[in-house]
Amino acid sequence: MRRLHTRVVRVDPASPDTPALREAARALAAGCLVAFPTETVYGLGADAFNEAAVRRIFEVKGRPPDNPLIVHVALPEEAMRVARPDAGGLWEALARRFWPGPLTLVLPYRPGLPAATRAGLETVAVRVPAHPVAQALIRAAGCPVAAPSANRSGRPSPSTAQHVLDDLEGRVEWLIDAGPADVGVESTVLDLTADPPVVWRPGGVTLEALRGVLGRVEAEPGQAAAGPPPPSPGLKYRHYAPRAPLVLLEGSPRAVAAEIRRRLAEPGRGRVGLLVTEETLEALEQAYQGGSLPGRAAPFCVGRRREPETVARSLFEGLRTLDRLQPCVILAEAVEPSGLGLAVDNRLRKAAAGQVVHCAEPP
Ligand code: TXA
Ligand code: MG
Repeated sequence: MRRLHTRVVRVDPASPDTPALREAARALAAGCLVAFPTETVYGLGADAFNEAAVRRIFEVKGRPPDNPLIVHVALPEEAMRVARPDAGGLWEALARRFWPGPLTLVLPYRPGLPAATRAGLETVAVRVPAHPVAQALIRAAGCPVAAPSANRSGRPSPSTAQHVLDDLEGRVEWLIDAGPADVGVESTVLDLTADPPVVWRPGGVTLEALRGVLGRVEAEPGQAAAGPPPPSPGLKYRHYAPRAPLVLLEGSPRAVAAEIRRRLAEPGRGRVGLLVTEETLEALEQAYQGGSLPGRAAPFCVGRRREPETVARSLFEGLRTLDRLQPCVILAEAVEPSGLGLAVDNRLRKAAAGQVVHCAEPP
């Protein structure tokens, strides 16, 4: 692939409408790739109606061509430029409640939208991002913007502009940097063409909040790689994967700390990455009688276990930071799968690819 110069511009979310942003928007409308911040994670944007630009998204990400993109629009009514209403007409109530925000709706596609954008499906995923810079970019570009997360396929999603550079520098024309993403995990993908509606990917809008509006919602995030092709193609790929194997540790902070201590005492010299909450780090320090952890331990604290919002915000930064240390393994603590914790749990389980240990409570 020919190496490009990636132009990086910093934009203040408080006053996003700058000449540089407008220039990036013109480039986007003219067929370039523009990475930009959203409230969930950074996205890699192209004009959703420009088939050649959309194909380049797949190429630069190394994304399987059968995994469709989310189309971003600035206003709820603009969703109908790429989609048609669902049979039950639920989309409007959801749009009123959750847009702009981290909810993606899967709807029947509107003819004219290129097959590449929807990976040949009869449906399209659409959302209205809340981030002021995403809003300003889409408005200025004047076209619906197809944008997957701006990472190389399979890697943890980018929650900062630096993460985008690490994966895509020299492959995309523009990167708009507006600081770290607020939510930190991607949008919830809700399929309204299914009855009852199905959540294919838990995310920034919680299942509990969706149930408050819809009543019945199915949640299918655990769907495995085997079996018939899943209706949401993203489900069948390994995701969020650091290069080192990741083991998910379930249990109380004390139980997880005891298991980590046991593993750190095993023979071996490689570094051991620890993706843990404050509570577990405290329990671990106590287990070493207030002393320091063994030198091979590399802890990254994701915040308090009871605050899934904080954990979500630091999750991908944690995975990427530990990955850079080239550990032989990453031991990650499981969180309560409710509220935003469900999205965190889903990303960690995918990263663990089945390596899950339930830690026994120490005596
Ligand atoms: O928060 C987000 O959603 C971010 C920001 C940039 O908006 N975008 C994002 O896109 O996470 P991506 O491409 O990484 O994930 C899109 C997910 C994939 O799992 C894909 O399979 C699913 O949405 N998806 C897209 N179109 C679909 C469709 N028509 N039916 C079912 N699933 C679909
Ligand atoms: Mg992604």
